[in-house]
Amino acid sequence: MKHLLKPFEAKEFCSNLTEFGFVPTMGALHNGHISLIQASQKQNPYTLVSIFLNPTQFNNPQDFQQYPVNLEEDLKILEELEVDAVFLPQVEDMYPDGYHYKITEDNLSRDLCGKTRLGHFDGVLTVVMKLLQIVRPNRAYFGEKDYQQLKLVKDMVQAFFMDVEIVACPTVRSSEGLALSSRNKRLSPEGIEKAQYFAQQLRSVTSLTDLEKQLNAIDISVDYLEEHLGRRFAAVHIENVRLIDNVPL
Ligand code: PAJ
Repeated sequence: MKHLLKPFEAKEFCSNLTEFGFVPTMGALHNGHISLIQASQKQNPYTLVSIFLNPTQFNNPQDFQQYPVNLEEDLKILEELEVDAVFLPQVEDMYPDGYHYKITEDNLSRDLCGKTRLGHFDGVLTVVMKLLQIVRPNRAYFGEKDYQQLKLVKDMVQAFFMDVEIVACPTVRSSEGLALSSRNKRLSPEGIEKAQYFAQQLRSVTSLTDLEKQLNAIDISVDYLEEHLGRRFAAVHIENVRLIDNVPL
């Protein structure tokens, strides 16, 4: 597996590939990420993964500092999957402009996660735009776990006439129904049980008001619980960890 450290190295490597898929991540890889990589490997002769913990999408510095980092283990996983190359840029490589230039969407990005995480989607869209401009893949893979992100990226690609197909991949869950997330690693065993309950109840036919009451009763605070675009979306706090999920209605 080729390690690409600088944008110019990634640019050069990718310009020699005729057809390839790209999976952007922030590391701490789990089976959710792996499902995206395998989807790309099925559909493309080559697959490139990026690992970049993007500071501009964290509105809360504590959340950024506590984000799990496990580069050695991540690289082992990617080797075993026989990924062709991994792009590992540093912050200064991705933001030579000091983040004075950014992509802003001013409609959907202000809703759901955007309501409390101010500037979060500016950070996401800006880094995704930069990554796509550097590597220029044929296809890029995103999870439905972050449905709002997926929709915003798809719409950005259309808005800017970009030549890349955005492929949506279904949410990977544990056998108890909990959506896999790097943030789950910060929960205690009791927190995991609460998170499983949250995931199970989200699918139930219970009304949104009753659902919120049920969650509050076991100390889960609700950031939002809404129905949009034919899906039920939620963000909650369990043991100071923010978890999001969404399911089709
Ligand atoms: P990260 O949270 O590392 O997720 C990388 C990709 O994996 C995203 O497309 C996300 O939706 C997908 N993913 C995470 N958990 C999943 C699960 N349980 N099932 C299916 N897919 C899952 O999302 C980001 O990073 C960043 O915002 C990024 C797009 C890399 C920009 O910095």
